[in-house]
Amino acid sequence: MNRQTIALVTGANKGIGYEIAAGLGALGWSVGVGARDAERREAAVQKLRAAGADAFGVPLDVTDDASVIAAARLFEERAGRLDVLVNNAGVTGGSPQLPTTVDLAAVRRALEANVLGVIRVTNAMLPLLRRSASPRIVNMSSSVGSLTLQTAPGAETGPISAAYAPSKTFLNAVTVQYARELGETNILINAGCPGFCATDLNGFRGVRTPEQGAAIAIQLATLPDDGPTGGFFDDAGVVPW
Ligand SMILES: NC(=O)c1ccc[n+]([C@@H]2O[C@H](COP(=O)([O-])OP(=O)(O)OC[C@H]3O[C@@H](n4cnc5c(N)ncnc54)[C@H](OP(=O)(O)O)[C@@H]3O)[C@@H](O)[C@H]2O)c1
Repeated sequence: MNRQTIALVTGANKGIGYEIAAGLGALGWSVGVGARDAERREAAVQKLRAAGADAFGVPLDVTDDASVIAAARLFEERAGRLDVLVNNAGVTGGSPQLPTTVDLAAVRRALEANVLGVIRVTNAMLPLLRRSASPRIVNMSSSVGSLTLQTAPGAETGPISAAYAPSKTFLNAVTVQYARELGETNILINAGCPGFCATDLNGFRGVRTPEQGAAIAIQLATLPDDGPTGGFFDDAGVVPW
């Protein structure tokens, strides 16, 4: 069996996901660039390859069952397993997001991609991850999903939101439940917060670079076998739930 580590990064055509793919590629890994748009996917793959990464395109819309099943089949045929899954794809859902005026469609969009998408992709990939010697799952969350920080006086927690922020709270809760169920296996699953990074997601208002945001995902993707599971981390360490 080919021992080169093989990974999938969802939403890897731009932003933090692209930088996660670049970082994993720099480790000598084979990296699947999960992206829903063919042109954007191919452009990212070409750029990663030009930088020396062993990257390949994975057509993937995390909200679409058939697309996710096809992506799992691609890994089955290519390697017969998956070592690392980074659930990075995410959306804000749109606006308005204030609880009293929120557009329910925005809530649905945020949940569909940020929560159901993660569950859909994770469950489709689990049979492949179970064949890995050191499987890792990284869920890209956000400190705006931290209820502790949301209710801490003076804490910097992002805008009031009934869609995006709660979708990350939900994602954190789901991460814990996976860790509980998979506790007796060698699969480590954790949530990571990249910090406030300048990307399309926030109109490039973030203060960190996407590359800086990718660092926590790369750290959680490369955890040793005795590393944590069911946790929530950023560059500074543990993020409160
Ligand atoms: N930027 C921040 O400050 C920040 C802070 C905390 C957490 N995060 C999280 O970090 C992750 C990456 O965000 P980012 O800032 O890099 O945002 P971004 O630049 O907007 O990138 C989001 C990525 O997700 C993809 N995507 C969205 N919906 C998808 C779907 N249904 N199927 C497949 N791919 C989909 C996008 O693809 P398209 O190009 O096709 O739209 C894009 O590749 C997200 O989970 C986000 O919530 C970001």
